[in-house]
Amino acid sequence: MTGKFYGWPLAALSILLLAACQSEGPGAALEPAEEWEVHTGTDPHSFAEYEKVRVEHLRLDLDADMDAHVLSGHVTLELERLDPDHPRLVLDTRNLEIRDVTAPESGGNFRPLSWRLAEAHDDADLGSPLIIALPEGVETVRIDYASSPDAFGLQWLDGEQTSSGEPFMFSQSQPHYARTWVPLQDTPAVRYTFDATVRVPENLMAVMGAGGNAFERNDRGEYSFHMPQPVPSYLMAIAVGDLEFAEIGPRSGVYAEPQWIEAAAEEFDVLEEMIDIGVDLYGEYRWGRYDLLVLPPSFPFGGMENPRLSFVTPTIIAGDGSLLALVAHELAHSWSGNLVTNAAWRDLWLNEGFTVYFESRIMEALYGERIADMLAVLEWQDLKAELETARDGMASLVLDIDEQDPEKAFTGVPYAKGRFFLDWIEHRVGREAIDTFLRAYFDEFAFESITTNTFREYLRDNLVAKHSEALSMEEVDQWLYQPGLPEYAVAPESDAFERVDAWRERWLTGDVSTEELPGGEWSVHEWLHFLIGLEDSLDVERMAALDEAFELTGSGNYEILFQWLMRSIETRYEPGIERLETFLLNVGRNKFTRPLYSALADTDWGREWAIEVYERAKPGYHPLTRQASERALGLEG
Ligand code: BES
Ligand code: ZN
Repeated sequence: MTGKFYGWPLAALSILLLAACQSEGPGAALEPAEEWEVHTGTDPHSFAEYEKVRVEHLRLDLDADMDAHVLSGHVTLELERLDPDHPRLVLDTRNLEIRDVTAPESGGNFRPLSWRLAEAHDDADLGSPLIIALPEGVETVRIDYASSPDAFGLQWLDGEQTSSGEPFMFSQSQPHYARTWVPLQDTPAVRYTFDATVRVPENLMAVMGAGGNAFERNDRGEYSFHMPQPVPSYLMAIAVGDLEFAEIGPRSGVYAEPQWIEAAAEEFDVLEEMIDIGVDLYGEYRWGRYDLLVLPPSFPFGGMENPRLSFVTPTIIAGDGSLLALVAHELAHSWSGNLVTNAAWRDLWLNEGFTVYFESRIMEALYGERIADMLAVLEWQDLKAELETARDGMASLVLDIDEQDPEKAFTGVPYAKGRFFLDWIEHRVGREAIDTFLRAYFDEFAFESITTNTFREYLRDNLVAKHSEALSMEEVDQWLYQPGLPEYAVAPESDAFERVDAWRERWLTGDVSTEELPGGEWSVHEWLHFLIGLEDSLDVERMAALDEAFELTGSGNYEILFQWLMRSIETRYEPGIERLETFLLNVGRNKFTRPLYSALADTDWGREWAIEVYERAKPGYHPLTRQASERALGLEG
């Protein structure tokens, strides 16, 4: 390995690699690979040299082949040549078939550009940098390409795997999977606007996280989109399916397959009100519409904050609006994250921590303090447990993940510790002061990507300086850079949960019978707290008694059902295990599947069974769920 790689932090990066090229386009204008300096920008998870050349606008023209599971067509990138002498454009790709690279010229001609696709061997699955020679003055580059049928950032479902009986496809680009379906500068540090045209079979509809989503199918099978607000690549989102739309308010609605649409519209009927609350708290909603797209149950997450069109799992459709914190969360990202973005994944807390704080403020405004307190306690308990096993570099707000898969940034730490950091600031300076500060912060950095340091300086100058009697930068830095929770963190409390604790205690000691438990009056969150607190305290008889009194195996609330299934695994409670099998065969949401497989793998009876269930479930799982399940079951490698 002889390349010059200044400051590249990925130790495992034998990107040097560049010598070994997978494929090459015409022309010979590229320098010898060994002499390239790899980019040393703020984001170690992208090969793009975005300080030199920056994508400003992108035009996509794609065909979705629902049988072959391929997106193909071209992308045209409009570039800003920050350093006009910089001789190349480096894009992120992973598993893409690059067919042609050209520079559009006047008269409809295309000038071929010299390019090569390098092969990277790194631990973070960063893919293959596409290196394109940029002649002087060239500011537009067109890449003709196709995605691979097993593109990590896309899930393709055939008709027999969906509730409509029609095929479905959706993307999940965060954190670094946009590069598996578009060659681009795949880093949150770069924002661009875009246009897109997507062709699909006539009986299906395409939607994107963009403006221009149709309210009904057209018979041309062609859909066009326009995104006037600049967004980072991880927010690129597309879905194709048998979709219907139901309006909720003047700027909100929901898309879903026909079977879900009615229940979804009902479940999410507070959406418009939520947007109003967000606006009241932190200022103007700058994205035009806000719609939701209900995905098939294989969606690996609860929700994804794709701009203007959050993607959500159908497992939050509980029939009673009890799981809408997730919608509040994705909506909150319209400010924290989509408007002000972490420039690299180590600063994820700027996205997720702020969002959880904001989510809880929305929940409080909608449902009151009692519910918000319960949610806070659940989060606090999870965080405490997680911090016990997290290594130091993963227990501070700024994460030590530069040398790892950015996926690993998504632990409870940036989410919950970030939120409790903001709770602590609120506790010290008061609500009015933090709200004024946050509103100004979102204005100041709107449509920018920032680092923790930028935030830190802004906080110092605009909040700490004014409230130096209430908080100090030493304390702030402890939150940002030290592991664990500072002893002055403010633990949330919930009276309702304390009462549940007392009932649980008395039930376990036999003081009260199962029938005497006031479970019929409990909210979903009280039930969750009750069940979580029963970890490792149950046996089959007690499970059966609870089940008989409260029909937990038949619960239609997926959060409750999940906790119940965890208890069922611990106790090997047969009716629960039966339900677990259909659950695993239908649901691919990682928050549920990963711990379930992992708990099964830890038993002396369940691992083989779990592997057998997994093999049957696998064809319906998203690549991310497959990966996580295989890790949980010890199957990988
Ligand atoms: N941005 C995340 C989704 C995500 C998580 C993408 C991990 C890539 C990797 C989204 O905003 C989110 O946090 N969703 C949570 C729900 C939320 C209420 C905590 C989820 O999906 O569970
Ligand atoms: Zn989030």
